[in-house]
Amino acid sequence: MSDSSSSFLPGTVDVLVIGAGAAGLMCASVAGKRGRSVLVLDHANKVGKKILMSGGGRCNFTNLYTSPDNFYGVNPHFCKSALARYTQWDFIALVEKHGIPYHEKTLGQLFCDNSSRDVVDLLLSECREARAQVRTRCEIQRIEPLQVKGFEVHTSLGRVVCESLVIATGGLSIPTMGATGFGYEIARQFGHNIIPTRAALVPFTLNKRALARQQELPGTSLAVNASCALGHFHEQMLFTHKGLSGPAVLQISSHWKEGMPVTFDLAPGLNLSGWLTEQRGKKQESFLHTVLAELWSKKLVQFLLQRNALQSKPLKQYGDGELRDLGEKLQTWTLIPEGTEGYRTAEVTLGGVNTDEVSSRSMESMKQPGLYFIGEVLDVTGWLGGFNFQWAWASAHAAGGEV
Ligand code: FDA
Repeated sequence: MSDSSSSFLPGTVDVLVIGAGAAGLMCASVAGKRGRSVLVLDHANKVGKKILMSGGGRCNFTNLYTSPDNFYGVNPHFCKSALARYTQWDFIALVEKHGIPYHEKTLGQLFCDNSSRDVVDLLLSECREARAQVRTRCEIQRIEPLQVKGFEVHTSLGRVVCESLVIATGGLSIPTMGATGFGYEIARQFGHNIIPTRAALVPFTLNKRALARQQELPGTSLAVNASCALGHFHEQMLFTHKGLSGPAVLQISSHWKEGMPVTFDLAPGLNLSGWLTEQRGKKQESFLHTVLAELWSKKLVQFLLQRNALQSKPLKQYGDGELRDLGEKLQTWTLIPEGTEGYRTAEVTLGGVNTDEVSSRSMESMKQPGLYFIGEVLDVTGWLGGFNFQWAWASAHAAGGEV
């Protein structure tokens, strides 16, 4: 197995995989272990770039609680078969086979103890064992179906004929890391429909006025309940220089559509009005802002009081009705984000190749025999928390057993 651009391509292989990311490398190793000759091509200068940058450099490679409910897609049933046949436990066993140390962070999210590099090395080692060849810096120029069976693929490194062609080129997020719409173009070439794509797991941007109001807050984070018309999440939110981020915001962004209000409960699990009334009984002379600083940072308290045009007075000066209104105003923050940071920083792409036209058992196209789609290029998108990699592994495993 080699991971370079230097050598010529083999003229003929059983399986050609385009895209040496999570799904492509996994599929190559599974197919290679079945005795198929496999070649993986990628246009980037190195393999697995998104794996390397994932999970803050520690790759959140799966989630202990993976279930089909953690995925979006027009056909929510499509992911079930592959996820059931290659589970989080299968990938964990592979991680353990390679002696990679890992830990659970929160909510079942498993991360490498050391570095994401461990996961790339795992995949390359599996490919080596399977005698799958990997070439980088290879541009795919043209794909032509052969008359009887298979494909002829023209590349910057030469021509390859293959029986099975696997498209594992991922989604559109982070173009600087090699993301392209190539997979969608190939799907269209063979008559597939593409579910409209959209950046997801992505920070919100706010308008200039809102940003000016929160200029002291970037870096501040707190636990919230984030909700919009289509979903809700209880996680951390982070103020940024451009708007809002953090897991709660990334998660809700997958449900959000332009112009839709988003509501943040800033004290989840607490009835703020009731709590303030209780505090008034205990600390009559304490000022509102001092008491609120027990819940939130001083900067956040300042921001919330200003946003609601509230004066801080000793608690004994507030009547029951006033405290009730004040608690509601401070606890619930509803805003309409100006937009998102888009594909430049999004973790994933919603939409993709329509799964009604792909076999959920093998990932083979129903339009073109021998053509397969795996990973993020399909209209299957996971929540934040290791689910997207689990989909890459599971869909790749399903195709790898068939190609
Ligand atoms: P992937 O994007 O991994 O691979 C596609 C490959 O195709 C790339 O190597 C690319 O260079 C190649 N390619 C593209 N166009 C091509 C062309 N025209 N010709 C040749 N090759 C081409 N998920 C998760 O579960 N846990 C996490 O911790 C994270 N963290 C994370 C952080 C960041 C910053 C991002 C951007 C994303 C994540 N993700 C994540 C999401 C996860 O990285 C993503 O869902 C998977 O990598 C998708 O795997 P694929 O193999 O489908 O695509």
